[in-house]
Parts: sequence; structure tokens; C-alpha cells
Amino acid sequence: MRKTLVAANWKMNGSREFAGEFFKALDLSGVSADVAFCPPFPYLSVVADLLKQVGHQGVALGAQNVSERDAGAFTGEVSAAMLKDFDARYVIVGHSERRSLYGESSELVARKYVAVRQAGLMPILCVGETLEEREASRALEVIGSQLNAVSELAGEDCWHGAVVAYEPVWAIGTGKTATPEQAQEVHEFIRKRLGAAGEQAQILYGGSVKSANAASLFAQPDIDGALVGGASLDAGEFAGICRAA
Ligand code: 13P
Repeated sequence: MRKTLVAANWKMNGSREFAGEFFKALDLSGVSADVAFCPPFPYLSVVADLLKQVGHQGVALGAQNVSERDAGAFTGEVSAAMLKDFDARYVIVGHSERRSLYGESSELVARKYVAVRQAGLMPILCVGETLEEREASRALEVIGSQLNAVSELAGEDCWHGAVVAYEPVWAIGTGKTATPEQAQEVHEFIRKRLGAAGEQAQILYGGSVKSANAASLFAQPDIDGALVGGASLDAGEFAGICRAA
């Protein structure tokens, strides 16, 4: 049985005060899923402390980005070892905002994936197609090539215990969610693509997940949780998603 994971991606939102208020309001009673919080870098230690007060066994800390390098003269970068030092368990790599706004290629994403695994952390590898690619019936081809870039660098063994998030670019922050059937089709494709490791891999859906649509997404056989943006900034809404998982 795969464990469900709901991960909050706060993106570049929040403050020290926000984090305090959020965790004061957060009630994860009745939640059986694992839950992860990925705040901006400066708040990792603040959130790490606040997580100790959350009365839920399966909570973990994550980061939103990482350097592909180990250490050295790389101004502004943060290594996977540093994230581990702050008790992070997860690192989001390959988010579409980083691919499109910061020019991260699939090859760079693959190097980040490897750096995170080598540090003993778990990447949450984001893949997904644009609207144009979906309308040209190229969604699976695009996602397949995003996955191939990782296994070409790291070998097929890299999928062991993997966490992959399918985030259709057209559904991120737009209020448009993939239908449960559209998401399921892609999740099934990803699971098959991961080969023998696919059965154990956690494949999350991301893109305008809310407490109101979460249950229908989670009812799909290959959807193992969610990567939540906007709705993860509201403690009640986020807890509702976790409870649906
Ligand atoms: P929204 O939930 O705001 O659509 O964002 C999804 C996302 O990008 C999570 O990483």
C-alpha cells in the first residue's frame, strides 16, 4: 500500500509572523496522510521549530529549490547538505516556475535530482505540459522526456522510492484543475514509465487543488497525494485537503 503525501508549496509567500499564525491555526486531527511543508529558504528553521508543535506523526519539512553543486563559490545558492542540516526531508525540483521563469533545463533538473538523492533527501520531481503541448496531444511525450532526462543521468535505479508531481502548467494558479480522468491518465503513464519502481513511487497531482476538488482527485487509483500551492497558504483549506487524502 502506498502512503499518501500532501505537500504545501508556499512559493515566495509568507513571513515569520505568517508562519506562526498558520501553525497556530493548523489542525491536522483525523489526517492519516503524510504532510510536508516547503516554505521559502529563510523560514526553514522557523517552520522546523513550528512543526515540532504539530500533533501529527507524519509531518516533514521540504525546500522549494536547491543547487546542483555540493559547495564552493556559488553566490546565492543553497546545497542539499545545507537543507539536510536544517532537517529537510524533501526538495522540490523541476517546478514549472523554475523551468519557465528561471530557465532551468531538464538536464539541470536532473543534476539537482541527483544532488538531492546523494544528500539522502527525497526530491519531489515536478513534470507537466503547457496548454499548447496538451492541445497538440504532446502531453505524454513532454512528460516522458522530462523523466528521461533524469534517468539518462542517474540510471533507472533513480526511481526507487521516488516522489513525482504531475503539475499541468495550465492548471497552476489558474483555478483550472485537470479533471480526475485527465490526471489519472498521466499518473498511470508516469507509473508505467518508472518501471519496477513505479508500484512504490508516490505520484502527486498539483494544479489548483482545493479542499472542494481534492477527494475526487484522490479517488483515482494512481493519484497518491497532492502538491498544493495557493490553497496551502490557508490553514483550514490545507487541512481540508489533507483530510481528504
Ligand atoms: P496552485 O495550487 O496554486 O495551482 O499551485 C500548484 C503548484 O504549483 C504547486 O507546486
